[in-house]
Amino acid sequence: DKGNHRHFMEKEIYEQPEIISHALSHYVDFAAGTVKPLASGIDFAGIRSLAISACGTAYLSGLIGKYWFERYARLPVEIDVASEFRYREIPLSKDQAALFISQSGETADTLASLRYCRQEGLTIGAVVNVRESTIAREADAVFPILAGPEIGVASTKAFTCQLAVLAALAIQAGRARGTLTAEDEKAMVRHLIEMPRIMSRVLNLVEPQVEGLSRELSRFKDVLYLGRGTSFPLALEGALKLKEISYIHAEGYAAGELKHGPIALIDENMPVIVIAPHDRFFEKTVSNMQEVAARGGRIIFITDEKGAAASKLATMATIVLPTVDEVIAPMIYALPIQLLAYHTAVFMGTDVDQPRNLAKSVTVE
Ligand code: F6R
Repeated sequence: DKGNHRHFMEKEIYEQPEIISHALSHYVDFAAGTVKPLASGIDFAGIRSLAISACGTAYLSGLIGKYWFERYARLPVEIDVASEFRYREIPLSKDQAALFISQSGETADTLASLRYCRQEGLTIGAVVNVRESTIAREADAVFPILAGPEIGVASTKAFTCQLAVLAALAIQAGRARGTLTAEDEKAMVRHLIEMPRIMSRVLNLVEPQVEGLSRELSRFKDVLYLGRGTSFPLALEGALKLKEISYIHAEGYAAGELKHGPIALIDENMPVIVIAPHDRFFEKTVSNMQEVAARGGRIIFITDEKGAAASKLATMATIVLPTVDEVIAPMIYALPIQLLAYHTAVFMGTDVDQPRNLAKSVTVE
């Protein structure tokens, strides 16, 4: 049931604050302000490194997870798309753990990667939405994302719920490895607890800004997304979302890679969507934006109040979000990205919930 929404995708975008709050309650003790110990888990203190494998949007949530595990838990992470991971003959050892991320829990390549790691004797964790799935059944520890059924082929709420679970796991790993203090943990958990409320605010705030912009975006054939730090995987996710439902060609790049190739494409016919909260990468990303502007590129700037005040560049549009802590920024910045893709597709009249050539669950290679 779509309720009063035009598409399941729209409903699933708007469900996120409520659903993520529910998902968080499984991982976070709201009263104590700490991450809950889980019945079964990964021995984060005992492992040397973590291998993550997944496909599509789930891979991109894993890529953000990598930044978190490395930064907050000082845990080295190896990550790859499952179709490569399964065949790379990766040397692995028993003092590593593996984490598989899958909404459906049935993706063929992800399952094959899991079985490879099983054979190599690793402890296996699965971040899944469907708890009765094959991937969940074959894992040692299951971390449900509790997003409820996701009907729209383009993943939205599963992505942000995967992120919420990965953030909780990274905090747990940081605690286990002694790299986060009790105060660090409390501060991070407090941000997670505040997140659903901020998400609701952002959805209301962004909707009117994005509608008109989507109409403009629909005139272009190519779009480039740029970001640094955790905004880099988000740039990849923005491009994936736009291409799969609007069929506009889109690419995501690490902002620092701009001058290593994609800058050659910049002209007034290729808008550049820059995802840049006012974080420790902001100045660097702004200098990439200047390079775009100097070549006549049109910029859609997704930033926060501080970022908008700090940049003097002319943009095609600036979407201003509230200033938030870096640990919740990926979940907050996912929202304008989803809405922009959604409204562009609606404006172009594509079949948003059932885009051409795509299946919700990819059970063959
Ligand atoms: C993109 C999308 C796909 C899936 C991918 C993995 O919007 O939905 O890229 O994320 O096919 O699927 P799961 O998570 O079921 O393994």
